[in-house]
Amino acid sequence: MTNKRSLKFGAIIHGVGGSVTGWRHPEVLSDASVNLDFYKRQAQTAEEGKFDLVFIADGLYINEKSIPHFLNRFEPLTILSALAAVTSRIGLVGTLSTSYSEPFTVARQFASLDKISGGRAGWNVVTSPLEGTARNHTIRSHPAHADRYKIAEEHLEVVRGLWDSWEDDAFVRDKESGVFFDPEKLHRLNHQGEYFSVEGPLNIDRSKQGQPVVFQAGSSEDGKNLAARSADAVFTGHERLEDAQAFYRDVKQRAVANGREPQDIAILPGINPIVGRTLEEAEAKYEQIASLVTIDKALEYLGRFFDHHDFSQYPLDEAFPDLGDLGSNAFKSGTDKIKRDAQEQRLTLRQVALRSATPKTSFIGTPEDVADRIQEWFEAEAADGFIVHTDIPSGLRTFVDTVVPILQARGLYRLDYESDTLRGNLGVPIPENRYTAERSRAAAGEAAAGSLSSN
Ligand SMILES: Cc1cc2nc3c(=O)[nH]c(=O)nc-3n(C[C@H](O)[C@H](O)[C@H](O)COP(=O)(O)O)c2cc1C
Repeated sequence: MTNKRSLKFGAIIHGVGGSVTGWRHPEVLSDASVNLDFYKRQAQTAEEGKFDLVFIADGLYINEKSIPHFLNRFEPLTILSALAAVTSRIGLVGTLSTSYSEPFTVARQFASLDKISGGRAGWNVVTSPLEGTARNHTIRSHPAHADRYKIAEEHLEVVRGLWDSWEDDAFVRDKESGVFFDPEKLHRLNHQGEYFSVEGPLNIDRSKQGQPVVFQAGSSEDGKNLAARSADAVFTGHERLEDAQAFYRDVKQRAVANGREPQDIAILPGINPIVGRTLEEAEAKYEQIASLVTIDKALEYLGRFFDHHDFSQYPLDEAFPDLGDLGSNAFKSGTDKIKRDAQEQRLTLRQVALRSATPKTSFIGTPEDVADRIQEWFEAEAADGFIVHTDIPSGLRTFVDTVVPILQARGLYRLDYESDTLRGNLGVPIPENRYTAERSRAAAGEAAAGSLSSN
């Protein structure tokens, strides 16, 4: 494949599924969210399909109304370490919250995964939307949306600083002389900021991809700014092509305004493809999943975006209630959109709840139909690739066996991995160690000064 733009794919592995009632589907293993063999099979299927990465989402607060997958699931770094041992090329991206973690621990865990996997780790930076999360952590009350992003900015800066603690050739390991490391190439961060104070150094060095890839998920103004300044890739969600295009343009422009190249940041919307031998068969698969959802469960599902707001108190078939600011301190970008759509399209509460619990994907139909839609979004610059979520386990297998070969035949997607690192496959640059870069700059400056004085 040439160096022209090519599609990227991630597979989100979501155990019993991302929906309220999907676990009841006859094909779904009812313990899939805590079943290592299931995760292993899905990761290996994605690797067969030459996917760039598997993606593990996460949350830190549950209650009785949470969807089944959230109630009982693996911690991302732990499951990804296990998957590192049974895969060899695919990237391993895990979600970890900047609002409820220490940068030193995060830096160390992801650096370890990066070394264990030979340069395939990625961190999905999230800020944690739910108020109840604070009650599971001793330290503080749930920070406001804007503060969560300020914390995230500083947290990420510290983690990246710690990842550079050791220059790439710092470990000499010379048994003869007894020199284990070069102290000149060990660096303390000495960070004193508004939210964190961290001395360093980190007790693990860099992998061959330099630093883990940084993903960002969160689509508000603050979320987009964080991504544009600091992320290598963005996980986002859009139903309509035009919305995805607007988001794509917006984030790329913000990245350029921050002195970056547009291709330095990959935009990957989530899609939920449903593939059948005919459109009717695909539609029937959708109906089978959708028919499992009751209105009570749909209201609970909708409620979580608004910090588990109780929607059962409102009439179902009247206009979606006026909620004022409710939700803006939780999944802000998501709740803003739900409210806007409800108002513009004059939807009832029942319609809003069912739409959010059983969204009708436009990536549905025969393998050619789905490949056409993917090609359309990719070529229209609505996406650099996609995070693929499938409600039933065989959905990923079907996608890999039927849609992937079409995209390959069209020259849109790799026939084999270009690299054995996540950065290499995603085509995002390897960040040079900041201290090595400084040393090179200083040496270049001295050389220039030397040649001037000798002239
Ligand atoms: C596509 C997408 C995926 C997300 N995945 C997670 C996740 O796995 N865990 C989590 O705590 N938050 C997740 N979030 C929530 C964000 O981190 C953020 O807290 C929330 O969306 C509010 O920020 P925003 O208004 O900037 O979107 C996700 C958000 C989006 C848009």
